[in-house]
Amino acid sequence: MSATTLDHAARADLDFVLTWRRRWADRIWPVLVEQTDVATEGNRPADRKAVTPVAQAQPVYPWFAWSERASQKALWRAVSDALEGAPAIELPKDPIGSLTLDPELKLPEWYTDWDIHVQPGGIWRADASAHVYELGAKLVMLGGNDDYTFHRAFTETCAGDLGAPARIVDLGCGFGKSTWPFKRAYPDAEVIGVDLAAPCLRMAHAKTEALGLAVHYRQADATVNTGLEAGTADFVASTMVIHELPQPALRGIFAEAARLLKPGGRLAFLDFHFMGDPMRDLAAVEHGARNNEPFMPGMMASDTVAMAREAGFAHAAWTAFDERGAGRLPELAWPKRREWHFPWAVLEAEMPK
Ligand SMILES: C[S@@+](CC[C@H](N)C(=O)[O-])C[C@H]1O[C@@H](n2cnc3c(N)ncnc32)[C@H](O)[C@@H]1O
Repeated sequence: MSATTLDHAARADLDFVLTWRRRWADRIWPVLVEQTDVATEGNRPADRKAVTPVAQAQPVYPWFAWSERASQKALWRAVSDALEGAPAIELPKDPIGSLTLDPELKLPEWYTDWDIHVQPGGIWRADASAHVYELGAKLVMLGGNDDYTFHRAFTETCAGDLGAPARIVDLGCGFGKSTWPFKRAYPDAEVIGVDLAAPCLRMAHAKTEALGLAVHYRQADATVNTGLEAGTADFVASTMVIHELPQPALRGIFAEAARLLKPGGRLAFLDFHFMGDPMRDLAAVEHGARNNEPFMPGMMASDTVAMAREAGFAHAAWTAFDERGAGRLPELAWPKRREWHFPWAVLEAEMPK
């Protein structure tokens, strides 16, 4: 979002949506919590299902629910308007990395049937979708990830001690913001980003080359087969991907990660986890519904630790993640915050030696 490249109308739209979403998180959400606490006289039910009808009966609830959905729709409209006429992605002429697209790849129906995150048309149809997704993602993160602090923190705190890895694979790499930090941290490693969406991969390739980093991007289904050799990776990561997967695909991504890793190789999947606070857990489930993320509640309710174990991993465990910079936290517990926030967490595991 550069003030120099946007006209005043587009800037006003984007600023309004961003402010709306921030006030939704830091003003409307705390009121919903307070009203629910008053209604239950301070004895809030410990169970998400029991607290749901109470929260939904509060005067502010319709504002909370509608604002979440409507601000997301307004976000995409503002972003699409701002980017109208954006040039097609220009691929670098003499790349130091590579881009391997698979025109024969059949995208799964669970992927194409939904406009994920309410983004009209999804992220996989055209280069314009990747531009829209890139700018939209900044607003979704409430402007708190404009310099990709989140992804840097993930690399530093979840993959900061890999030694001298030969190969790192990023599953569901989007436009590369989760991938290029690996190459920065480990310049001698071969870094590979895998995604289903060709427009995102084109953008990832162009952006990474512009940073002067050699990364290999490939189009493949990470829940079936990435086409990479078995037993060759030291680290397999994914950020913000597994909550988008239905159950068979969820099992599939663990199996593919296990296949790719060397003995002793490590996995880190950054995603959402129930926080054990019934109001926050209710908000997470409803976020999935309002934001067109139909598989999110199912993933969060699944025993993903058991899935990792079934795929052959050892020491699988979730730990909390603080997106404001601290990154990986020592246990599955989050700092107290008044505002609404995503329940970020990391599932880590290791292939037995
Ligand atoms: C929310 S985005 C996250 C992108 C990136 N990891 C990040 O942190 O910004 C989810 C990405 O996962 C990709 N994806 C979803 N299912 C996939 C699959 N089965 N195989 C490969 N990529 C997938 C989507 O195309 C999308 O780019």
